[in-house]
Amino acid sequence: MKGKDLLSVSDLSSEEVDLLLSDTLSIKTGGWLSSLSGRSLALLFEKPSLRTRVSFEMAMRQLGGQVIYLSPDEVGLGIREPVADVARVISRYVDVIAARTNSHQTLELLAEYASVPVINALSDREHPCQALADLFTIYEKKGDLNGLNLAFIGDGNNVANSLLLAASLVGMNFRIASPAGYQVSDEILDLARDYAGESGSDILCTQELEQAVAGADIVYTDVWTSMGQEDEVEKRRRALAGYQVNGQLLDLAKDDAILMHPLPAHRGDEVTDDVLDGPASVVFDQAENRLHLAKALLDRMLGGLEFPLSSHF
Ligand code: CP
Ligand code: NVA
Repeated sequence: MKGKDLLSVSDLSSEEVDLLLSDTLSIKTGGWLSSLSGRSLALLFEKPSLRTRVSFEMAMRQLGGQVIYLSPDEVGLGIREPVADVARVISRYVDVIAARTNSHQTLELLAEYASVPVINALSDREHPCQALADLFTIYEKKGDLNGLNLAFIGDGNNVANSLLLAASLVGMNFRIASPAGYQVSDEILDLARDYAGESGSDILCTQELEQAVAGADIVYTDVWTSMGQEDEVEKRRRALAGYQVNGQLLDLAKDDAILMHPLPAHRGDEVTDDVLDGPASVVFDQAENRLHLAKALLDRMLGGLEFPLSSHF
């Protein structure tokens, strides 16, 4: 992973995912000594963020490194100056860039011209850091990943794409219920099917919520309108209105099923308050685990590991 970009979950092998999850567990449980002293991270964001920004910023600081946040207004990616020039300039100042871009193509262009590694901090196509942290949360709650059933309800968006790839890499079954026109992309699905062939996981795309949720260990949902799609909010609300995770739907999953959401949530749309704040919800553990995963990722990418640890996986 050292020196490599992370633009997609597909940039990682299943062994690298296992290693990251093992590192994350060590970090969270305190058996970790690492130093990123003298190393620096730039957060280059075209969209708002709470979890991604704060978790990366605190991860870098707590490991002894430095961080600079560049807000959407300051960056002007492709507006104030070409993306390729921004990439080449920032690379002269920092050791790694985490970028949140409107378009995945902007991220690819940044990575092409940057001489330091680029991390996808969310694009319109993927959110790999969220998916990796989510695998860790699932492992923490269920003690395993292989053979579990994850049901994703709603828009086949960036979060769904990364989760689908991550689940199929590690042998978790992935079922997604979304209406016509809001399914995961064929490109991602083809890639995930290749992984599933190797790992033995099942993938199901359906429009029927009940079919996806029956027997689920994890029920996962995300907003109907992602950042950058605000013009479509009413259209999306109409199309996705039936795809709400509420108590009635959750009852169809296993008795010990957990409810996951990357946050921020649009309460009352894709998920109801009682479910989000109820006993099955692990959404704040998910948010916390972004910090531990960010540390593991930065450490592997920058090579700050000082003491190898035994693998938990
Ligand atoms: N889940 C997540 O990425 O949240 P932010 O948009 O607040 O970073
Ligand atoms: N799908 C959401 C995820 C936010 C973390 C978005 O892109 O806005």
